[in-house]
Amino acid sequence: MSEKPDIQFTEHILVVEDDPAVRDYLQELFSSNGYLVRTASTGKEALSILANEYFPLLITDLMLPDLLGTEILKYVQQQEINSAVLIMTGFGSVESVIEALRQGAYDYITKPFSPQILLHRVARALEKIHMKEITRDISSKIVYAAEEERRRISRDVHDVLGQALAVIKLTLKAIRNKVPASEKEILSDIDGLSSHVEDTMNEISRITKNLNPSYVAELGFSKAIRLYIETFSKKTGIQVHSSLPDSFSFQDPQQNIHLYRIAQEGLTNVAKHSGATKVELNLKVADGLAHFSVEDNGKGFDKPQEDKLLGLGLIGMKERAAILGGRLSIESIPGHKTIIRVEVPYESISSRHNRE
Ligand SMILES: Nc1ncnc2c1ncn2[C@@H]1O[C@H](COP(=O)(O)OP(=O)(O)OP(=O)(O)O)[C@@H](O)[C@H]1O
Ligand SMILES: [Mg+2]
Repeated sequence: MSEKPDIQFTEHILVVEDDPAVRDYLQELFSSNGYLVRTASTGKEALSILANEYFPLLITDLMLPDLLGTEILKYVQQQEINSAVLIMTGFGSVESVIEALRQGAYDYITKPFSPQILLHRVARALEKIHMKEITRDISSKIVYAAEEERRRISRDVHDVLGQALAVIKLTLKAIRNKVPASEKEILSDIDGLSSHVEDTMNEISRITKNLNPSYVAELGFSKAIRLYIETFSKKTGIQVHSSLPDSFSFQDPQQNIHLYRIAQEGLTNVAKHSGATKVELNLKVADGLAHFSVEDNGKGFDKPQEDKLLGLGLIGMKERAAILGGRLSIESIPGHKTIIRVEVPYESISSRHNRE
């Protein structure tokens, strides 16, 4: 049975319009078509409403008495609010409309407009926002499901293959004890096989630990990532310089795993794509936020503008940052460097104790 995504569709619209006649007309039009409407007559009023309430759709006049509609659009984008912004404008302001669209407005409508056309555009904008919400919901579920699946595979590999190899190792030891000391060649074959089994067991242990990094939850982020960096540097020959506070660890152990996976994918990308010789890994706590970054001196890449252009690795990193209640940004200068920055809320252990 397919499960419905648990998203509440709210059809709230914020109308920002200084002309009372147009404002009242729009309120009446949207309300009579089943939408919940809030209105604001100035840009400042709109910003204070947006600071406390979420609206999937914002319809704003371009010329307000105190602000430009584009300034409201800028606020929506800076705050990463998932709202579609529809710009209303009079005739003759084509350049401003083009500028608004370039800055990320979803659509525009010129006054005077036909109610049918406006309602059609509103429905289309809301549909786009709903699709974005569904995509976000699905990608967060994918991150959880993938982590769960890795844990299951790790358990199976550990229990089934690990046990089978342990039995082979013990059996080889028993066989060896039965072989006379004079059978040097057979003894040497058995020893070779035993050491091969031992190597395979170590490899399985490495794979299962990577699939199910429960040690990250136990050790805390900083210690676990230092161990990972050691192996990474040995394997790739890339120098990693890290600056990590010793005591850094989230209260919820699962959160350590999310940041660990972000760091792991960041380093894997450096090795796979950048051609870098050096990586800097930084973690600092300030003002209730943890600032984490991975910076390499590699070839960089043109930063994708839309999520659809990201690979699965970067999407997973973004998703994990969102699960941690924060955000991830990418800065890349082709030919020079790439910096992945993550900012998430963090309460230090001492302030946790003070609170308790
Ligand atoms: N540090 C980096 N330096 C240069 N290019 C990078 C770096 N990180 C990412 N990229 C570019 O961004 C693209 C997307 O990265 P992403 O991790 O999402 O996908 P991927 O590594 O190609 O595949 P996957 O992670 O799903 O195995 C990469 O293919 C690469 O072109
Ligand atoms: Mg990747």
